[in-house]
Order: sequence, then structure tokens, then C-alpha cells
Amino acid sequence: MSKSKITAIGTYAPARRLTNADLERIVDTSDEWIVQRTGMKERRIAGEHEFTSDLCIEAVKNLAERYSGTLNDVDMILVATTTADYAFPSTAARVQAYFGWPHTGALDINATCAGLTYGLQLADALITAGTHQKVIVIAGETLSKVTDYTDRSTCVLFGDAAGALLVERDEAAPGFLAAVQGTVGSGADVLYRTGLSAELNGQPLKGGGNMVQNGREVYKWAVRTVPEEFNVLLEKAGFSKDDLDWFVPHSANMRMIESICEKLPFPAERTLTSVEYYGNTSSVSIILALDEAVKAKKLSEGQTLVLFGFGGGLTYTGLLVRWGF
Ligand code: ACO
Repeated sequence: MSKSKITAIGTYAPARRLTNADLERIVDTSDEWIVQRTGMKERRIAGEHEFTSDLCIEAVKNLAERYSGTLNDVDMILVATTTADYAFPSTAARVQAYFGWPHTGALDINATCAGLTYGLQLADALITAGTHQKVIVIAGETLSKVTDYTDRSTCVLFGDAAGALLVERDEAAPGFLAAVQGTVGSGADVLYRTGLSAELNGQPLKGGGNMVQNGREVYKWAVRTVPEEFNVLLEKAGFSKDDLDWFVPHSANMRMIESICEKLPFPAERTLTSVEYYGNTSSVSIILALDEAVKAKKLSEGQTLVLFGFGGGLTYTGLLVRWGF
């Protein structure tokens, strides 16, 4: 039985916008193709000297401004990222260095676009186990730094941003109702990042650290897996689709989200997304969608949501949660 809930949110996106018109000047593409295939209009791009930990710190500052309690007693920092500043120290330790929280663990999570939902699940598990009281789950990505801007099939998709959610002990009104997760490690070759010392299918991985993807295969996997596991998640908790207020899938691509909704079926109007103005921000996309809904007063305490992260690994985690504030 869960003993925690989400109690605060914060987000940050860099100022620079990369529009479809900008991309038309970089690669052979068009606004029409991008909007029709992905639903994207623009993305944010970090500055040359702005790194993932900088974005994460800004997101936590935004959360702190909107939260009435103290963050000095945060006892675990989890940062979901595929674009950490360094192999080590962790991005979470960079966040601790800035805020100076005195008694906290600090750990990065590498689960690509599923990183946020993995982080929330771990935060709830730590609190439910009784070892932690207040866990901050941050997602931050500077995907533009690992995007190949000569590859039109990937460079139109990705953007930069960060977000943070606070998870606190609450035994009376716990927010985490059920979870599903899974991994298809054999799908490594359809979505990966080069630049580290490894081999894939017997070939050394070389290059400056770019993302490589077989978009069509990722698309097929997601549209098959997410609806199946969404139904398993609801069954586990004895919920029906009518009990849900919102479905918040990873905002990879609007067309993909529409296909998932058609297959379920689930009304696309009851999804929260961040694709249009941020592109695919990997682990951050779900927090951006949640924050837009909070600001628009669409999301309120006690509403029931499915959060579903999925991506490179291939791996996924879906959570059924009750919104906590
Ligand atoms: N502009 C114009 N034409 C393009 C572009 C572009 N930016 N990119 C590709 N094309 C062309 C291709 O060259 C191809 O041309 P051809 O038919 O002459 O060979 C044609 O468009 C169709 O290419 P496909 O790759 O088959 O296009 P598809 O309809 O599959 O759409 C897309 C591509 C948008 C990448 C889609 O496959 C997709 O969204 N996949 C999922 C990607 C994704 O979400 N990944 C991340 C998930 S997990 C995570 O977030 C890390």
C-alpha cells in the first residue's frame, strides 16, 4: 500500500525557440511534413553554456517559489536524464551542490523517456518502505546537444527542458494506486545514443554522442505496447477508463498519441500533452504536460491520472496516480 503523494511541481524551458521554419533552413523538411507527422510547431534549445543540471536547478527554483513548505529536508534527489552533464558526478549531485540540502541522497536514473515515471515509482517505494520522507524527482534533458542536425528524421523531433515533482509522505491520502513496467532489451538497436565505449550487434559504437533511431520501429513498438499495458494497469487497480480524468503519455509525437488513443480506445481530448510547443523532451515531457494543465486549472486535487513513460531501452513504466494538490 502506497504511503506517499505528489505535492508540488516546477518546470523550466530555455528561452531560445527552434521553429519548424528554422528547421526548414537547416534540413530538407517542411512545416507541413512536421506538423502532419508529429504535431510539433516548436521546441526550446539550451544555450551553448547551459547544461542539464542548470535546467534542473531552474525547475527546482520554480517549484520552490510555488511550494509553501521547506525543501531543506529533502532526503533524496532523483534526476531522470539521458543527457547528464558528466558520466559522473551525477546530475543529482550537481543539484545538491547548488541548493546545499544537508542530508540527502543523490542519484541519476537512466531510463530515457520512461525516466520520470521510474523516478516517481522509486520515490513512492522509498517513502512507503519508511526510509525516506520527502523525495524530489527531477527530469532534465538537453537533447539538442546530442541531436544530429544533418539527420532530418530525428532533428525535427527533440527539444530541451526540465521539470520537478515533489513526493511526500501521506498515509491518509496516498497518491500511487498501481504500476506496470517492462523492458525489451533486445530493442537496443532501434533507439540509442552513440559516444560511449560499447559495441552493438558486434560493431563498435563511434561518434560524437548523437541519438540514432529507427523511428518507424519505435512507433510500432509504442503503439502496440502502451495500450496493452494501459489496460493491465487499470485491471490491477480495478479501475475502468471511465474512472480516469486524464491520460498523460510521454509526449513523443502527437500522431503516435492519437494512434494509442484510437487503439485503446480513449478520448484524445482527455490526454495532456506537451508536444506542440516543446517537441519530444524525453523524460521531461510528462511534467511539462502536467504543469500546463495545473496552470490552466484543468488538473486538481483528487483527479485520477495514468502517467505512461516509454522509450529507449526499450523500456516503459505506467502509473495510476491520484493528483495530490
Ligand atoms: N521532413 C521531410 N521528410 C522526412 C523527414 C522530415 N523531417 N524525415 C523523414 N522524412 C521522409 C523520409 O525520408 C521518407 O521518405 P521516402 O518515403 O522518400 O523514403 C518519408 O519521410 C517517410 O519516412 P518515415 O521514417 O517512414 O516517416 P514516418 O511516417 O515513420 O515518420 C517519424 C517519421 C515522425 C520519426 C515517426 O516514425 C515517429 O514519430 N516515430 C517515433 C519516434 C519517436 O517518437 N521516438 C522517440 C520515442 S521514445 C523517446 O522519446 C526517446
